Amino acid sequence: GLSRVYITRQIPPEGLKILRESGQVQFQLWDSDDIPVPRQEMLEKVKGADALLCVLTEKIDAELLDAAGPNLKVISTMSVGFDHLSLEELKRRGIRVGYTPDVLTDSVAELTVALLLTTSRRLIEATHEAKTGGWGTWRTLWLCGHELANSTVGILGLGRIGVAIAERLAPFKVKKFIYTDVVPRPELASMINAEYVSFDELAEQSDFLSVCCALTPETKEICNKNLFSKMKSTSIFINTSRGGVVNQDDLYEALSTGQIAGAGLDVTVPEPLPISHPLFTLKNCVILPHIASASYITRNAMSALAANNLLLGLRGEPMIKELKL
Ligand code: GLV
Ligand code: GLV
Repeated sequence: GLSRVYITRQIPPEGLKILRESGQVQFQLWDSDDIPVPRQEMLEKVKGADALLCVLTEKIDAELLDAAGPNLKVISTMSVGFDHLSLEELKRRGIRVGYTPDVLTDSVAELTVALLLTTSRRLIEATHEAKTGGWGTWRTLWLCGHELANSTVGILGLGRIGVAIAERLAPFKVKKFIYTDVVPRPELASMINAEYVSFDELAEQSDFLSVCCALTPETKEICNKNLFSKMKSTSIFINTSRGGVVNQDDLYEALSTGQIAGAGLDVTVPEPLPISHPLFTLKNCVILPHIASASYITRNAMSALAANNLLLGLRGEPMIKELKL
């Protein structure tokens, strides 16, 4: 018979088309208002499912897996991040996990460059000034920012996305790329001529520091006052990975006291960040609502990859992109 699939959100059409045309599954979909499925609803609807297709707003933990029951063989997340999944629980239960790296690398790298330039050249402040009467006249040091030309760009966590960001920044005449990670990544580093440095050296030398690592217990809040206090007062901090990598109180402190020049964040804790959050009061902090992979092509590709991973997993075949648990 057909395998039962629960899908936690309205996903872009390509993935649904693949599932429909597979003839392999019947699925049930939470598609109310494009908001996350209420936890209780998910706990009920997931009962008996053979596979679950989820997005990053859903916590997949022991409670959820218990509610699903013993049929559940596959989790397919439409995301590259996997911090919303309890990997130990999944491993213990022998549940396979698909995710969607690579297809979003271009989109995330593009957005990271856009956010970096928006932050370093103070574009949000500038448009605000222009349309609210602040543009009295042309002034010599007004709205001055920091240039990529001749700068040192640091990458915290060198993977595919870090490489793609560096490839895009190189034509801006960056002087030097440096990176740190738990171990050196010589193959990736050689693609962008990046030098491996210590965590402290990354903090001290970077004019632009871009966070590109996954959120894991090891990386939780590694960007804290220890890091910010070592950074240059002219440096720009960019995070398009996960908000949990940053201690936001420490970041607020660093930005409001001029310890660093600016920050561009596509990710925060929590999401959405409440509009009353102190970070929103800072002119030198640009906050985006987690849109790094948000292009039509990429979101459809993620949807298709998540669907294909799920179908392969249900057939007991290797997935296109499977997390090693
Ligand atoms: C986006 O943040 C993702 O994990 O795909
Ligand atoms: C800037 O517009 C300049 O002419 O220097």
